[in-house]
Amino acid sequence: MSSQTKIPVVVNGATGKMGREIVKAIAQAEDMTLVGAIARNPKLIGEDIGEVIGCGPLEIPVTNDLEATLVMAQSEGTAVMVDVTHPDRVYDAVRAAIAYGIRPVVGTTGLSADQIQELAEFADKASTGCLIIPNFSIGMVLLQQAALQASQYFDHVEIIELHHNQKADAPSGTAVQTAQMLSAQKDRYNPAQVEETEKLAGSRGGALESGIRIHSVRLPGLIAHQEVLFGAAGQLYTLRHDTSDRVCYMPGVLLSIRRVLPLKSLLYGLDKIL
Ligand SMILES: NC(=O)c1ccc[n+]([C@@H]2O[C@H](COP(=O)([O-])OP(=O)(O)OC[C@H]3O[C@@H](n4cnc5c(N)ncnc54)[C@H](OP(=O)(O)O)[C@@H]3O)[C@@H](O)[C@H]2O)c1
Repeated sequence: MSSQTKIPVVVNGATGKMGREIVKAIAQAEDMTLVGAIARNPKLIGEDIGEVIGCGPLEIPVTNDLEATLVMAQSEGTAVMVDVTHPDRVYDAVRAAIAYGIRPVVGTTGLSADQIQELAEFADKASTGCLIIPNFSIGMVLLQQAALQASQYFDHVEIIELHHNQKADAPSGTAVQTAQMLSAQKDRYNPAQVEETEKLAGSRGGALESGIRIHSVRLPGLIAHQEVLFGAAGQLYTLRHDTSDRVCYMPGVLLSIRRVLPLKSLLYGLDKIL
């Protein structure tokens, strides 16, 4: 495939845990070409991203100049920006990308519902595709589908999400997405059986309006894990997904890069493009 027909991709957060895997996956994808690698650490600026992540030279220097990278990517044709940065950073970066006609694929979690709504309106106005994917793994999509099915039969459900202790936001975007999907099926879960007193603030987790509770665990040694526990008289039904290596996200990342190109608006969730 000639470089003209390959999808130009910028990775924002290229030196992070997710960004490194994504740069490697793009370098190996026959229909994509890495055109920009953005990070923050001043020690890495100007270094070849391939050398930084240990996969050999890619001739793309790490930069912290988002705007200049977007301008350059725009000149390469219809380009994509994958964002795997930080909740404080992602909103402005995605708006800037859309303004330059670059299609964002957003893996960063922690965007508020209002921010997602604003980005959806902005993408609509610009007729530019944007994908927000709180979880790129197919296993999680299957877990969520099973949870939706179970919600027809169970009125009691709580979610436990467990992540490494460098994760900045809580609860995880995936846990929130799962709870929202379940809430769309039924107005009210977990009808009170007794009057509860929380003797240690937060011990019952965070509750959505629908009554679904989310509990967040943060420990070194974990990567990304989620349990959805349904309870009923005499039975417990547990759905669990465990991530043991970030490579599990890469098929979803590459699919998102391909699928965002023809879109004219914002879509939320990997299930929308499978
Ligand atoms: N959607 C999914 O399936 C999925 C899966 C896993 C993780 N995530 C999410 O992806 C995001 C990144 O996770 P990670 O584990 O890769 O994090 P990480 O290892 O901390 O990497 C973050 C990257 O973003 C850069 N960065 C951080 N803050 C920044 C800022 N204020 N301005 C510019 N760049 C900044 C960092 O640059 P420096 O290193 O130079 O500071 C680094 O390159 C998180 O929101 C996480 O929840 C999503």
